[in-house]
Amino acid sequence: MDFNAENLKKLRPLSGDGSKLYIETYGCQMNVSDSEVVLSILQRDGYRYTERIDEADVILVNTCSVRDNAEQRVLGRLREFKPYKRRKKALLVGVIGCMAERMKEQLMEREQLVDIVAGPDSYRDLPRLLRQAGDGSRSVNVLLSQEETYAEIAPVRLDKNGVSAFISIMRGCNNMCSYCVVPYTRGAERSRDPRTILREARELFDAGYREVTLLGQNVNSYRWEQDGHSTGFAALLDAVAGIDPLLRVRFSTSHPKDLSDEVLHVMARRENLCRAIHLPAQSGSTRMLELMNRKYTREWYLGRIAAIRRILPDCALSTDLIAGFCTETDADHRDTLSLMREVGYEFAFMFKYSERPNTKAARHFADDVPDEVKTARLTEIIDLQNELSLQSNRRDVGRTFEVLIEGVSKRSDDRLFGRTSQNKVVVFDRGDRRIGEYATVRITDCSSATLIGELL
Ligand code: SAH
Ligand code: SF4
Ligand code: F3S
Repeated sequence: MDFNAENLKKLRPLSGDGSKLYIETYGCQMNVSDSEVVLSILQRDGYRYTERIDEADVILVNTCSVRDNAEQRVLGRLREFKPYKRRKKALLVGVIGCMAERMKEQLMEREQLVDIVAGPDSYRDLPRLLRQAGDGSRSVNVLLSQEETYAEIAPVRLDKNGVSAFISIMRGCNNMCSYCVVPYTRGAERSRDPRTILREARELFDAGYREVTLLGQNVNSYRWEQDGHSTGFAALLDAVAGIDPLLRVRFSTSHPKDLSDEVLHVMARRENLCRAIHLPAQSGSTRMLELMNRKYTREWYLGRIAAIRRILPDCALSTDLIAGFCTETDADHRDTLSLMREVGYEFAFMFKYSERPNTKAARHFADDVPDEVKTARLTEIIDLQNELSLQSNRRDVGRTFEVLIEGVSKRSDDRLFGRTSQNKVVVFDRGDRRIGEYATVRITDCSSATLIGELL
C-alpha cells in the first residue's frame, strides 16, 4: 500500500486531553477547507478535536449565506444546541463563516446561545475570542482583510478517506454577480503564495493522498505577484500537476470569463489534470446574464465550451444554474434548457433564486417570479439534467477508465467506489484492490448518478 502512515498521522486531528472542540460545516468546499484551517489554529492553542457533540467544550458552526434556506437550516440547528448548553454551563457556541460575516452581532441578539461570532478572515483571532467569551464577554470579529490567505497554516485534514483533499489557493471574490452574497461575506479577491500551495500539495502526496482540488470562488483569476514575477493560474496548475504523475489535480470554481485557452492547453499536456471542468453558466439567456452581471453572453459561453471540446475532447462539463431570477420569462427559461441540451452537461447544481439582502439584485430589481413558477422551472431543469446525466453515463458503458479508489461502497462491503478523471463515481467488486490505489475498470452498466464497472 502506498500510504505512509506516519506522514498521514501528522496531518490528522489530535484527540485526547485539552478542551474539546466540535466543528459542524455547512456551505461550499471553501468552508470545508476553512474548518481544517480553524482546527489547525485551535489545536496549536491546545484544543483537541472531537466528533462527539455531547462531549464538546466548544461548538463551532461554519456557516453559509448563499441562499435563505442555507441560513434557516443553521438557525434551526443552533436552537438544537440549547440542551447541551443547559447541561454544561461553560460550553461555548461560535458561529463562524459567511453567516457570521453577514449577520454579525445580530446573531447574538437573535440566537441567545451564541457566544462567538467570527468572519472568514478572523480565524487567527479565534483563540483570543474564545478566551474572551470564556470570561463572559461578547466576542465578535468580522473584519475582512485584503491579505489574509492563511498561507502558512497547515490545515488539519478532516476528510474521511486520506485520498482526496482540498487546497485553498485564493479567497474572496471581485465579480459582484448581482444575486450573490459571497463578495460581501468573503471580501475582496486575493491569491495565496504559490510556494505554500506547492508545499501543501507535496506534503499531501507524501502522506498518501492521490488527489487535490484547488479551491477558490474564482480559481482561474488566480494571480500571485512578487518581486516582478507573476504566477497565473495556468502556471500554478502546471506546477502542482508536476509534483507527481500519480497526483490527480482538480480545481473549482472557474468563472467562464477567465477560462483561458492557456489553461486548457496545460490540461491537455498533463494527464493528471483531471478531465472535468465546472463552469457555472447560471442561465442560458443573455438578457438574464446581463442582469446577473456575469460579464459574458450565451454565445461567448458556448465559445468557451467549443474551446474545451476542441482542446480536451474527453472533458466532462458541469455547471450551476439559477431558476427564476428577477424578470425571468418563459423564453429566458427555455434558453437555459436549450443551453443545457447544447452543452450536454454531465452534472449540475441547480437552485431557485433566493434574494439576498443588500446585493445589487435586492437593491435594484424586484424578486418578481412567483415561487410556484420558480419551482416549476427548477423541476424542469432538474428533470432535463437527469436525462442528460443518464445519456452521458450510457455513452460510457463499454469504455475503460482509470479509477482512483476512494472508499468502500455504502451498499456493500464487497464493493469499492472511486472516480474517473471526469469525476464520475464508479462502483465495482473490490477484488484485491485498496483505497488510495488506481484501478482500471470497464463500465458495464449505469444509472443517472453512478457507473457500475468491473476490474480489468
Ligand atoms: N464562485 C462560484 C460559486 C458561487 S456560490 C461561481 O461563481 O460559480 C455557488 C452557486 O450558488 C452559484 O454558482 C449560483 O448558482 C448559486 N447562487 C449564488 N447566489 C444565489 C442566490 N442568491 N440564489 C440562488 N442561487 C445562488
Ligand atoms: Fe458569487 Fe459571482 Fe463571485 Fe461566484 S463569481 S462567488 S457567483 S459573485
Ligand atoms: Fe456559502 Fe460562503 Fe461558500 S456563502 S457558498 S459558504 S462562500
